[in-house]
Amino acid sequence: MPRFPESPSAALIHAAGKGSTSSGDRSAATERRSAQRVRVSREDLEGYYPTSDDAGRHTAADVVRNQHDLTDPTQPGPGQRWSTWRSVAKGQRGPEPLPDWVVTRDAAIDTELGILKTGKEADAFLIERAVPAGVDSTPDLTLDQAATRCLLVAKRYRSLEHGQFHRGSEYTEGRTVRRTRDQRAMEDRKSAWGRAVSATQWADAEFVALRTVWEAGAPVPYPVQIDGTEVLMEFVGTEETDDLGRTQAIAAPRLTRVRPSDDLLESYWEQLTHGMSVLARLGFAHGDLSPYNILADGERLVIIDLPQVVDLAANPFSSDVLLRDCRTVCDWFIARGLDVDADALFADLLAQAF
Ligand SMILES: Nc1ncnc2c1ncn2[C@@H]1O[C@H](COP(=O)(O)OP(=O)(O)OP(=O)(O)O)[C@@H](O)[C@H]1O
Ligand SMILES: [Mg+2]
Repeated sequence: MPRFPESPSAALIHAAGKGSTSSGDRSAATERRSAQRVRVSREDLEGYYPTSDDAGRHTAADVVRNQHDLTDPTQPGPGQRWSTWRSVAKGQRGPEPLPDWVVTRDAAIDTELGILKTGKEADAFLIERAVPAGVDSTPDLTLDQAATRCLLVAKRYRSLEHGQFHRGSEYTEGRTVRRTRDQRAMEDRKSAWGRAVSATQWADAEFVALRTVWEAGAPVPYPVQIDGTEVLMEFVGTEETDDLGRTQAIAAPRLTRVRPSDDLLESYWEQLTHGMSVLARLGFAHGDLSPYNILADGERLVIIDLPQVVDLAANPFSSDVLLRDCRTVCDWFIARGLDVDADALFADLLAQAF
C-alpha cells in the first residue's frame, strides 16, 4: 500500500492533546499546522485521545488545503500522497456506475486531514482527494470525468499485533478464505504474515460487503477502492464554512446521538429495515448492527462498519447474530417512542433470506 511520504501524525488532532504542554518550544511551522489542525469532538475519540474544547460538536475537521509551504503545490508534500486510484487494479475499485463525485484524475493528491476515530481494529481518517490548483483542470476526456475534489474516509485496519480484534470465529465460520496458505497463516497468529493477512482479510471483507450491498441498493457509503489494509469510502457528512471563512468537514453523527422528530424516526426505521432486507435477500446479516454503526446524515440514514457480515446460510450462529442485530436496533427505536418488534423483524428478514 502506498504510504504517505512523511508521517502524517504532525497534522493530526491526536497530537493536539500532547502538544498542549509543550507549545512553547514548537517551531513556527508546527504552530501554523496546529492552528489548521483537524478538530474532533470528545465523543468521537472515546478512549484514546481526549480533547478539551469541542464538547457538543460532531466530528469536525478544518479542511486544510495548504498545510505546508510548498515550492510546487502540484507535488505531494508532508501528509500527502499521489491519489491511489490508478495504482490499484480495476477489481479493487468501487462498483459501476461510478458516482460523478469520485475523483479519478492522475494529478489528484490525497491529503490526510485528520483522524475521525480510532477503533479497536481500525482507524478512520478523513482524506481529501483533489487536483491541486495550478494543474490543468480540463477533465480527462478518456475518462469522461470532471470531479476535481472529494472527501473520503480511509478505514485502515491494524494487524493483530496492534489491534484488539474481538471478532472471532463466530463471524468467520462458514466463510471461505481464498488461499489455503492464507488460511493457515491466519491460524498461525504468531507469524507476522498471519497477522498481516488477517488485517487484509478484514479490509477485504468490508470492501466486498460494501460493494455488494451498495450495488443491491442498501444505504451504505460508496466504496471507492481497497488497497491492502486500507478501505477508501464515501465520507458521510457535510462541509460548512464558518463566519471566518474556514471550511469544516462535519461527519454525520452516529444514531446514538440524535433525537429525531416522529416523522424522521419513522423514516429512519423504514430506511434501516430496507437496508437490513437488502442484506437478508443477499443472504447476509450485518453482524454488529447497533446505533453506533449507523450514521444519521440529515434525513438519510447510512449503515457502516460491515467487515463482519455473516453468511446466513453457511454460518451456524447466523440466527443468533441476526436476532441480536434486530434486538439492538429495535431497542433504540423503542426507546425513542416507535412501536416496533424485534421478533417480527427477525421473522420477516429470515423469510426474505430463505
Ligand atoms: N464513511 C464514513 N463517513 C463518516 N464517518 C465515518 C465513516 N466511516 C466511519 N466513520 C466514523 O468512524 C467511526 C468508526 O467507524 P467504524 O465503525 O466503521 O470503525 P470501527 O473500527 O469498527 O469502530 P468501532 O470499533 O468503534 O466500531 C464511526 O463511528 C464514524 O463516526
Ligand atoms: Mg463501528
